[in-house]
Amino acid sequence: MANKFKRTTITSALPYANGPVHIGHMAGVYIPADIYARYLRLKGEEVLFVGGSDEHGVPITVKARKEGVTPQDIVDRYHKIIKDSFEEFGISFDVYSRTSSETHRKTASDFFKTLYDKNEFITQTSEQYYDEEAKQFLADRYITGECPRCHAQGAYGDQCEKCGATLSPDELINPKSTISGSSKLVKKETKHWYLPLDKHEKWLSQWILEDHKEWKTNVYGQCKSWLDGGLMPRAVSRDLNWGIPLPIEGAEGKVLYVWFDAPIGYISNTKEICAAHPEKYGNWEKWWKDPETRLIHFIGKDNIVFHCIVFPAMLKAEGSYILPDNVPRNEFLN
Ligand code: 2FM
Ligand code: ZN
Repeated sequence: MANKFKRTTITSALPYANGPVHIGHMAGVYIPADIYARYLRLKGEEVLFVGGSDEHGVPITVKARKEGVTPQDIVDRYHKIIKDSFEEFGISFDVYSRTSSETHRKTASDFFKTLYDKNEFITQTSEQYYDEEAKQFLADRYITGECPRCHAQGAYGDQCEKCGATLSPDELINPKSTISGSSKLVKKETKHWYLPLDKHEKWLSQWILEDHKEWKTNVYGQCKSWLDGGLMPRAVSRDLNWGIPLPIEGAEGKVLYVWFDAPIGYISNTKEICAAHPEKYGNWEKWWKDPETRLIHFIGKDNIVFHCIVFPAMLKAEGSYILPDNVPRNEFLN
């Protein structure tokens, strides 16, 4: 540990509670994070190793709909399966909680409200696909079609899983609803809240490209390509009935975008364990707000932009948090 740090907060990407964790997750994220946590503990250092399940987002609602159960049923089932797997594997989390907890709902909701009150968001009204049959807006993952880049069928409205391209629903060729199967989609106006990442571009470039040249090549390279391409405002709300409701007026039927609430889960889970064992862990704020704490995010595939750009921008906009000192992303074991 560099001398300037007194303790380390280690987070490991929160797996979606819509399926079991597999060996790729273990090798890429949890075993490296576990090794690091154990190594620091053996050296006698103060460590907090945070994990938990990511229980919001569209794929969970899609699975629930397919099985004819509620999203809560799905996350209850998989949270247990995942938690048990980690225990059986011996992953030494200090805390493993979940984003459907009350602590998390309040923490994420308050975080949004703080940014909202500080005018850190902008709003934009845009036309989005709406399924007349299902009577709901189609979040990116509810729309599939042909990928405009590699022409694979079944690309999602936010990403093509074949070629990895980041997409918007408008780019899909022959889009259709995954709910009703209809390809007769209508467009309707809807208002959303956005984090203006363009406003954060300057300090992010300095912080990553100049001050963190030591980050792993795959992480640094992806950040550089995002920053060189210019950052755009990113929506932090969705029209969905599963998630954390936006805590403001005029946003009925809207919830926080899963990638806005999930990383806040690291903070909520820290609060939970500190409240349960104050004698061991102390106050939660020392793990997130003390510049003498070293914050490390162990992340998986496709998580780079959220942990290196979006979440740091959220933390910076809030104003009282530290930023990650490193964001290791492993292909397999270190
Ligand atoms: O990619 C994933 O599996 C996400 N559920 C990771 C979330 S990490 C953090 F933001 F919670
Ligand atoms: Zn593609």
